[in-house]
Amino acid sequence: MDVTLRPAISIRRSRMGKVFLADLVGNGTMSPDLGSFLAAAVAARKNIMIAGATNAGKTTLLRALANQIPAEERLITVERALELGLDHFPELHPNVVAFEERLPNSEGQGTISMADLVRRSLRMNPSRVIVGEVLGDEIVTMLNAMTQGNDGSLSTIHSNSSLEVFNRISTYAIQASERLPVDATHMLIAGAIDFVVFQEKRNEYTQGGRLRRFVSSVREVTGVDGLVLSSEVFAPSRDGQAVPHAPASCLDELAAYGTTRRGEAGVERAEGARHRLEGLATWTESLRDTIAARSASSRPSPPLPGSPTARSASRWRGLWTGCTPACRCMWRCAGSPRTSTTRAPT
Ligand SMILES: Nc1ncnc2c1ncn2[C@@H]1O[C@H](COP(=O)(O)OP(=O)(O)OP(=O)(O)O)[C@@H](O)[C@H]1O
Ligand SMILES: [Mg+2]
Repeated sequence: MDVTLRPAISIRRSRMGKVFLADLVGNGTMSPDLGSFLAAAVAARKNIMIAGATNAGKTTLLRALANQIPAEERLITVERALELGLDHFPELHPNVVAFEERLPNSEGQGTISMADLVRRSLRMNPSRVIVGEVLGDEIVTMLNAMTQGNDGSLSTIHSNSSLEVFNRISTYAIQASERLPVDATHMLIAGAIDFVVFQEKRNEYTQGGRLRRFVSSVREVTGVDGLVLSSEVFAPSRDGQAVPHAPASCLDELAAYGTTRRGEAGVERAEGARHRLEGLATWTESLRDTIAARSASSRPSPPLPGSPTARSASRWRGLWTGCTPACRCMWRCAGSPRTSTTRAPT
């Protein structure tokens, strides 16, 4: 039975097979700070989910992150259609087992699903399991595996924002054979995923620009309270590129794995400067109030006309060299010309 009126072939060919984070920093996909942050996250064996729209560059970013994994680790990749190709570069990863899902034959027999492969891969002593693209019920198996000590897993998922990833996973999980309810899925996510990295593709030809692919957000999963709690450690800047936004809760751990802390240090510096400025403004305000209160109480009231004080003031007025037209001394000499160093009359 035909499925289309005329044959169509699509060739999915990636221009960036052997790609490193440095290449993506070099072509403007991410800042050097973010590059070092992600490298440290991979080295610290954080579970990372790469999200984005179709053709945004998720698989390419996954390859770049996977190439940060030390060569001695044993990697098992599970994909719907082989495209990661980590086993094509034995000099980078000599120990890779690449699995591909098998569809059923014409009799509906022989299917081996992604979920089966993820389950089986866990019995093969992997250092890390990399799932090329999560599109269905394999997510439950994968999240379970991530919460059972299989740290350092990487995967990609289609989504429209970094925050939407959690609901997307819930939607897949509810369709899985386990029929996982939303709150259970969110608990599973909180225990399994450490970071969501969101990549965007933006076509700016009409504004005289170019086609840009860039990481716009990195979200850290911090806990669960009914729903997943997360904080955006890198948020979109004015041009969309992810810039440091909030310090990651596992910053010290990442620092131990070599992040330069520049991103976080930048955030901390900016926060510190803001607090210092606010403190300075409050302090200046209170100082101004104190001075005003003190000068109001200490300034002598004007001498009564004809009183000894008034007579004394008129004798002293204008005799001090310190008195200027703007002088506001207790002798109220304001406006009197600056005089010479005449000695005060005795
Ligand atoms: N950071 C990047 N800079 C420039 N080109 C890129 C970048 N990332 C990916 N590309 C190119 O964009 C195309 C799509 O990349 P990729 O297959 O990684 O996207 P994807 O999001 O995984 O797509 P899909 O949703 O179809 O799986 C490829 O030709 C790739 O070479
Ligand atoms: Mg892809």
